[in-house]
Amino acid sequence: MGKDVIIACDFASKEEVFAFLDKFKEEKPYVKIGMELFYGAGPDIVREIKKRGHKIFLDLKLHDIPNTVKKAMHVLSSLDVDMCNLHAGGTIPMMEAAIEGLTREDGTRPLLIAVTQLTSTDQEHMENDLLIHEPIDKVVMHYASNAKKAGLDGVVCSPLEAGKVHDTCGSDFITVTPGVRFADGDVGDQKRVTTPERAKEIGSDYIVVGRPITAADDPVAAYRRCVKEFVS
Ligand code: C5P
Repeated sequence: MGKDVIIACDFASKEEVFAFLDKFKEEKPYVKIGMELFYGAGPDIVREIKKRGHKIFLDLKLHDIPNTVKKAMHVLSSLDVDMCNLHAGGTIPMMEAAIEGLTREDGTRPLLIAVTQLTSTDQEHMENDLLIHEPIDKVVMHYASNAKKAGLDGVVCSPLEAGKVHDTCGSDFITVTPGVRFADGDVGDQKRVTTPERAKEIGSDYIVVGRPITAADDPVAAYRRCVKEFVS
């Protein structure tokens, strides 16, 4: 499994994202496009970034009835993204339908990973809002196992959970982990963070890094530092 650093391009407009990507003259980083940019700029943003030679993780977190998710995934697959995601809470039939929709006629498809419980959901929300009474760690691992059963490639999780996900679902099951900060950097609004180096030790396959790169004085240097700590 090749490890990689994915830059969260949380920009509001096409102009901002291109001004950012233009700074990279020598490398073509893997980028994450989220809802804000996708809904604002439209699917063309994916085509244009692809054309520039970047790999794309399209972070739209689908969650609907199986047939709707299947058809939406078919569209994302034809957009030629490299990785996309959905909510495991949509159940195994929804995840199976997603795989069906994503798979192209030649049998290839983008990687598909699941969100288990959002990190903004805590035990209290689960108990009171969702009526889920099991401990959150157990729920996260159960949803990860469901994703594996449905044929998905991995999950989004905290770097701190990556080892446990691999123990539960196997070393080939991909862990994509946000919440990464440099040892000497600002934590910002992230609660449980690790350094790229530590994420590597715990076993993350991909780290998703936003502000430590996008808001750095020298984003290219910050990206290279992440790659050096996490990949090399
Ligand atoms: O700027 P920062 O490095 O905190 O960005 C992390 C990225 O990962 C953001 O796009 C954020 O929405 C996303 N993310 C996260 N935590 C999750 C899931 C996604 O930080 N549990």
